[in-house]
Amino acid sequence: MVSHFLKFSDIAPDEIQPLLNRAIELKSGVVSNALAGKSIAILFEKPSLRTKLSFWVGAEKLGGHPVHFSPEEVGLGKREPVADVAQVMSRMSDIAVIRTFAHSTIEEFALNASIPVINALTDAEHPCQALADTQTITEQLGSVSGARVAFVGDGNNVAASLGYAVAGLGGHLIVASPDGYTLPVEDLEGANAYGATSGGTVTQVTSPQEAVSNADIVYTDVWTSMGQEAETAKRLVAFAGYQVNPALLDQAAAGVKFMHDLPAHPGEEISHGLLYDPRSVAFDQAENRLWAQAALMDKLI
Ligand code: NVA
Repeated sequence: MVSHFLKFSDIAPDEIQPLLNRAIELKSGVVSNALAGKSIAILFEKPSLRTKLSFWVGAEKLGGHPVHFSPEEVGLGKREPVADVAQVMSRMSDIAVIRTFAHSTIEEFALNASIPVINALTDAEHPCQALADTQTITEQLGSVSGARVAFVGDGNNVAASLGYAVAGLGGHLIVASPDGYTLPVEDLEGANAYGATSGGTVTQVTSPQEAVSNADIVYTDVWTSMGQEAETAKRLVAFAGYQVNPALLDQAAAGVKFMHDLPAHPGEEISHGLLYDPRSVAFDQAENRLWAQAALMDKLI
């Protein structure tokens, strides 16, 4: 059986901490040659800075050879059927890293691939981000277990994966979103079920103040994700009042840390300058993409 990482719950709750420990070990300078002689095919249908750079550099750090494709080069499902691209990549490379729109596309890809497939973001989940996020929380708080994490904003792909990761490690995620933009019910229920043995929970509320009260971490993401640009005006209205700013952080626990998966839209989901607030760990979080994904590739291969 080939192991894929399409949804965060593709790894068992008890596999998360060892993976994060490995990420922290690699970050500390431990050398791995797990990908020596291996090729990593990286195919993105949406823009990317962190994900592309971190997979590329991460593959090289482990001795592997990354090969990157832009959307135009492959035409996934347009120039060539998804199943055929998956078969060709499987014949010539050892891991496929895919960023696409519909989650069903990556599922179809994985079904036809005989190599591990990693989700580098779909409309439904961003599981690699959640690995880096929980690595960052571990570094900041010592452990995710028992941590109170508030996510203020859209119950989107980033929030969904974060829910599984935090709950799976025994932490508590409270998501504050306006009506119509809450976490999908299957993810709310799914993450609580996933976290049951670790005692982790995910809760959905509407009030940002309620979510951040006593929070150790306050996290937000863009209000308009890639592919939703036509809804921007409507979303700006719906999310008014959900901005994370110094005044909102002041209502959280003493020592609160601010997180954002980036890129940020200052003036929308965050106030201008918040990324550079002493409470922000957004750039540590960005760096941790490199180490968390290196640990993931090390495991999958
Ligand atoms: N929710 C955002 C995350 C970007 C890394 C998006 O899907 O565009």
